[in-house]
Amino acid sequence: MTVRIVPSILSADLTRLGEQVREAVAAGADRIQVDVMDGHFVPNLTFGPGVVAAVRRVAPELPIEAHLMIERPEQFVQAFADAGADHILVQVESTTSLYRTVHAIAEAGAQAGLVLNPGTPVESLRELVPYVRMVNVMTVEPGFGGQKFITTSPEKIRRLRVLSSVVEIEVDGGIDARTAPLVVAAGATVLVAGNSVFAFKQGVAAGIKAIRDAVD
Ligand code: DX5
Repeated sequence: MTVRIVPSILSADLTRLGEQVREAVAAGADRIQVDVMDGHFVPNLTFGPGVVAAVRRVAPELPIEAHLMIERPEQFVQAFADAGADHILVQVESTTSLYRTVHAIAEAGAQAGLVLNPGTPVESLRELVPYVRMVNVMTVEPGFGGQKFITTSPEKIRRLRVLSSVVEIEVDGGIDARTAPLVVAAGATVLVAGNSVFAFKQGVAAGIKAIRDAVD
């Protein structure tokens, strides 16, 4: 089972974002995640389509995930797809028209993913799992990097694996060399990592290697 590592630029040094992305690519990152926050769905403000386009220019080959932590994400699907996002992830709590939004993402030529906040039950996905390739289980409350991993997350991942044996399971928040084996053992195959990559003392490459060694 291939485990993918997806550095999240929320924790990158934004004064040298291009360099940081290149370091991650050189160190074998499988994708890059751009966390989009609107100050409403989560109590923080971050990036727009322009940052996705910038990452795309720096890393033309690397798949990009746009994780939309915004209200009414359907309004911005086309803009993020046009900017170069390969995967567009929407929070199941953020819109009343998830079915339409998931299909709009596919029509825009991107892959749709659904994201569950820690307090949202896996069962809320039952009707939509057939339409998506990936489900992201937030292992922290969204909004900030560097938070503590929620220790009940592996059980939730196991429940999701029961709900769907095919969907790719991504985890996001507090993932490092200590927590990565716990989520992979539960069935996760995509690991988003912010602090444990971009704030790792020995550098980006060592951060990615520490996680990969822990799950290999
Ligand atoms: C938080 C974001 C995460 C965050 C992860 O809302 O969705 O992607 O950047 O950062 P770490 O790995 O530092 O918890």
